[in-house]
Amino acid sequence: MIDFHSHILPAVDDGSRDVEESLQLLGMLKSQGVNTVVATPHFLSNRESVDEFLMRRQASFDILTSALSCDFPQIILGAEVAYYEGISKLEGLHKLSVGDSRLLLIEMPMCKWSEYSVKEITELACSNRVTIVLAHIERYLAFHNTEAIRTLLGCDVLMQVNASFFNDFFTRHKAFSMLKSGSIHFIGSDCHNITHRPPRIGQAFDLICKKSGPHFLQDFADFQRSIIFSDENG
Ligand SMILES: [Fe+2]
Repeated sequence: MIDFHSHILPAVDDGSRDVEESLQLLGMLKSQGVNTVVATPHFLSNRESVDEFLMRRQASFDILTSALSCDFPQIILGAEVAYYEGISKLEGLHKLSVGDSRLLLIEMPMCKWSEYSVKEITELACSNRVTIVLAHIERYLAFHNTEAIRTLLGCDVLMQVNASFFNDFFTRHKAFSMLKSGSIHFIGSDCHNITHRPPRIGQAFDLICKKSGPHFLQDFADFQRSIIFSDENG
């Protein structure tokens, strides 16, 4: 299974503190059925350039991989890119995509999105420069963004939810309803550490397997792989 959103790289953002914690997180993910994890450290354009971020990310990844054994999940490099008005003009934006794909994970602001924001994301999605994936979309439902989300889905914007959306009893029904309607394309642990924000994605996989069956879960994983890898060199 794939974990599409994680902060497992050591000392690169507010996620894992060091290599030891990264190895523990990867071990937990593996025990929860994850064999591919997308590392998505936060990228904030007001703090550093894309190239500076990529250098920091690579240095962190190199340190981690030198400590990894082959039975850990495969790590694909990506970023969780904080949205701001004007992001479409950011130089090198496409370099923040996941692995060799064009998938770009964007974190929207915690508020009702402006018309400008929705239009900018729509235009970016239509430009074919990148394929937009909105991070933990469930967080924004409370801000009356349902209509905007519907519009974005219509423009082939993809949606990622956190495992907690399924794990939490009070949001589970909504999560399954969105999964059934095809509005969820990726699930992420969004794990940051082994204490307050550990990975609990295995629980979400178990719930989906129980409700929808193992074939559904396998088809979902195959679908995700086809998106991640078919976009290669696009
Ligand atoms: Fe995150």
